[in-house]
Amino acid sequence: MKFVLASHNPGKLTEMRAILSEFGVELVSQDELGVHIDVEETGETFRENALLKARAVMEQTQLPAISDDSGLMVDALNGAPGVYTARYGGEGLTDEQRYRLLLSSLTGQTNRTAHFYSCIACVFPGNETITAQGVCDGTIAFAPMGQDGFGYDPIFFVPALRKTFAQMTAEEKNSVSHRAKALAAFRVEFEKYCGEKNIHVDE
Ligand code: IMP
Repeated sequence: MKFVLASHNPGKLTEMRAILSEFGVELVSQDELGVHIDVEETGETFRENALLKARAVMEQTQLPAISDDSGLMVDALNGAPGVYTARYGGEGLTDEQRYRLLLSSLTGQTNRTAHFYSCIACVFPGNETITAQGVCDGTIAFAPMGQDGFGYDPIFFVPALRKTFAQMTAEEKNSVSHRAKALAAFRVEFEKYCGEKNIHVDE
């Protein structure tokens, strides 16, 4: 079964393609289908934003559309930047400028605990929806470490693996990440949906 990813983020595409292929879903990006819309994230929750993005791309493509809305919640900042993670610091910043700004907002702060959250939403033609969520607990490092990944990966440290996301292999990150957990929960709901509709995913 073919899904379209409602995102322009190549990092999300790589991670989600690897995980979804394990359960028979082929993922193409909206850019690969020539759908260049940029959906404004006007929702107040990750779930609302994930549904907004998936629904808009489903309407353009008439394919089941899947999206991820994710963000970083830092305890010492009362859960910020949260749904504003992608826009933290304003428009036009690079990923590195954003994570360096977050580091500087925690200067002198010893409570470094943080949580990466992901909500996956899928909207099918006909408007049925599935949503699922996942969380990865960690800490904000004192300095960036590692070269891989995207976004805030160099500063998000996972104590269980003693590495930042940017120091992990793709397999390591997929064994602990918020997005991988949300996709595992999504898989359960999706298989239930397919059972009810008598859909075979490899068709
Ligand atoms: P979204 O595209 O609105 O979901 O934005 C999510 C924000 O969180 C962007 O700034 C991403 O770079 C960041 N983000 C989401 N997931 C990850 C991740 O796995 N690693 C690093 N940054 C992430």
